[in-house]
Amino acid sequence: MANTSLTRRQILLASAAGGLLATEQLNYAAIARAKRAPKAAHGVFAHGVAAGYPHPTSTTLWTRVTELSHRATVELEVARDRHFRHVVHRAQELVDPALDYTVHARVGRLRPDDEYFYRFATKSSHSRIGRFKTLPPPHSKQALRIGFFSCQSYEAGYYTAHAALAKEEDLDLVLCLGDYIYEHHYYEGPPGRLDTTGVNKDGDVQSLAEYRQKYRFYQTDPNLQALHANHAFVAIWDDHEVEDNYAGKGPDSKPTPPGFENNGVYPRRVPFAQRRQNGYDAFFEALPRIRLKGRQRNRTYGTIRLNGLADLFITDQRQYRSPQACDDATLAPCPAEDDPKRTLLGAAQKKWFKRAVATSDAKWKLWASEVMIMSLDSSIGQHANPDQWDGYAAERKEIFETFRRKHVKNLVGLTGDIHTFAAGNLTTNGNITGKPVGTELVGGSVTSFGLPEETGIPAAALDALRKAGDKHILYADFERHGYCVLQVKPKELTAQFKSPDTIAAPTSPVRTIGRFRVKSGTPKLEVL
Ligand SMILES: [Fe+2]
Repeated sequence: MANTSLTRRQILLASAAGGLLATEQLNYAAIARAKRAPKAAHGVFAHGVAAGYPHPTSTTLWTRVTELSHRATVELEVARDRHFRHVVHRAQELVDPALDYTVHARVGRLRPDDEYFYRFATKSSHSRIGRFKTLPPPHSKQALRIGFFSCQSYEAGYYTAHAALAKEEDLDLVLCLGDYIYEHHYYEGPPGRLDTTGVNKDGDVQSLAEYRQKYRFYQTDPNLQALHANHAFVAIWDDHEVEDNYAGKGPDSKPTPPGFENNGVYPRRVPFAQRRQNGYDAFFEALPRIRLKGRQRNRTYGTIRLNGLADLFITDQRQYRSPQACDDATLAPCPAEDDPKRTLLGAAQKKWFKRAVATSDAKWKLWASEVMIMSLDSSIGQHANPDQWDGYAAERKEIFETFRRKHVKNLVGLTGDIHTFAAGNLTTNGNITGKPVGTELVGGSVTSFGLPEETGIPAAALDALRKAGDKHILYADFERHGYCVLQVKPKELTAQFKSPDTIAAPTSPVRTIGRFRVKSGTPKLEVL
């Protein structure tokens, strides 16, 4: 973050904790700068408010102020009640034009496991009121409730799922597993959801100004705003925060017409390396989190200790990966996926991940994974998609063999990416013939089209293929959209997949379509 300096000590503490702000941070440089800027006389809070990266005694509070044209401050108030009678924190926070007029305020000295309310104000306007809960004390064993989702293409449909997720009670956290935005036009959704961002007004964004416009546009949605205003939030990116199926420092390995993005439709207007940085910069600005500085400024991976019951391991599965094997060709045999030199996590992240999971003293190890960990096979052992963990099978095996050797128990993958609800068992080789390692819940998409909508292949045919080739996947729904809610308890973890009846209309009933249980100590998912 350009104008908030973390001290060297803060960075070391954050790094030691996995890079994800396990410590309270007071940003003295930012406070000093804020003192010198005038309080905003006008300005509009058009994109709501958000709380992120909660800790037992601190959190990051976010907003964006539009219709300002200079550096200014806004007042932040945090209270123990929604009427702001008992204010516990009041400060002037810098609205920084260099960060697209966003505010990222780290607030400390809060009580663990408590509910707080907050709002921002200029001299003439207030933001909406947001609420969040701090995390329980680090060693408590109290039950946790976590919501997660992925893939919220604005143009694919209405956020009817988010309207329901916003109203879920007692969530300790909501987790986005990627594709918070889509970098260009993919889906023909209902009228009223047209995305005309970008200089060509076709939804394709490549410059920093265009990515900023994209986040601003998505964050006008009232259901997304309600979700942010009601729950503490943690997000990891997948590919569409930058470009479809990019891998590490380059685009998708699929052969591409010269001068075009990997789908061959949109001209490449910005070189890939610059585009990736533009996407990253806009992501950090638009979401409630503090950014590390220097060489760590693009780092998102690390551990969030939820409490003594669960650690959440956040991984970045785009930034450091090797190119997809076999030109990213789907449904084709690909021996290169077994090459141990290819990596999905990259050396440094893999070293951290193996060690962090193996040494965690929390009962449940929740792994936030962008792409599917279990195999997705067209027949047993024949992988369908080299962009997911199947395409990096040697590394998956290496990590899982380590976990087995270190007797890691209660590993649960929480996954996005494939626009399909799925639940099943993790093994060393991804399928039914491997040795058990844990379980996985793939949380569908909020709106982005699934395979039947994209290909015209009926869901029943896809499910027949799944039942023949993917016996480790015990539940799949290719048609519906929605999110997942987890309950983490000492003796078991339960989960529900929840789905709106439609995303083609602004409102919809939402129902539970799948229920699951994992008993502690047993790497086996039960479909209830
Ligand atoms: Fe997606």
